[in-house]
Amino acid sequence: MKNVHVLDHPLIQHKLTFIRDVNTGNKDFRELVDEVATLMAYEVTRDLPLEEYVVQTPVAKARTKVIAGKKLGVVPILRAGLGMVDGILRLVPHARVGHIGLYRDPETLSPVTYYSKLPSDIEDRDFIVVDPMLATGGSAVAAIRILQKLSARSIKLMCLIAAPEGIEAVNQACPDIEIYVAHVDQKLNDHGYIVPGLGDAGDRLFGTK
Ligand code: PRP
Ligand code: URA
Repeated sequence: MKNVHVLDHPLIQHKLTFIRDVNTGNKDFRELVDEVATLMAYEVTRDLPLEEYVVQTPVAKARTKVIAGKKLGVVPILRAGLGMVDGILRLVPHARVGHIGLYRDPETLSPVTYYSKLPSDIEDRDFIVVDPMLATGGSAVAAIRILQKLSARSIKLMCLIAAPEGIEAVNQACPDIEIYVAHVDQKLNDHGYIVPGLGDAGDRLFGTK
């Protein structure tokens, strides 16, 4: 597996345990996903470039640093990716948010695109594609391809839980994409669900089951 960053901070791992728990209700599930997204965003943005800045403190001038005007875009894969957006925007509130609507056909497990609305200045932006689950990888690859075709400046993928199969699929289709995950699980089951995973992320976020 290439290009995989497992964010194993104790707070992320602790919260992920309760995200997985079948007894965690929709409200707590949403709040935990939101918190973990913030913690993950802290790591995913670690390489943002800085520039010199001079600030006047109450005592003296300080030569310090600020982020060097990097233009970020956050792209949730609908629906479940929506659960991670606010947690990221808490750290980078000026990031633009694009939306890509995809669902997995339950029979074929292939992604079906039904919506796409992205910032106009895609060529000048660095994107973080977000989705809690990287299962077969079909949805993530389809979303990345949409951004690549529109010449996004750079793209990272951020997921809570990945199956080895999904990582392999992204590595094969998009060898330059860095993948950030909280955990790599064992495998996919016969229905394309991650084992042990957390079940259906969209249903658990939005209470649709
Ligand atoms: C889930 C999940 C991913 C996708 C992952 O979405 O949120 O988008 O499945 O599976 P893949 O890696 O095999 O493509 P789903 O299709 O259930 O849609 P939803 O978010 O609208 O519930
Ligand atoms: N989508 C989910 O929501 N969960 C999985 O385990 C796989 C795909």
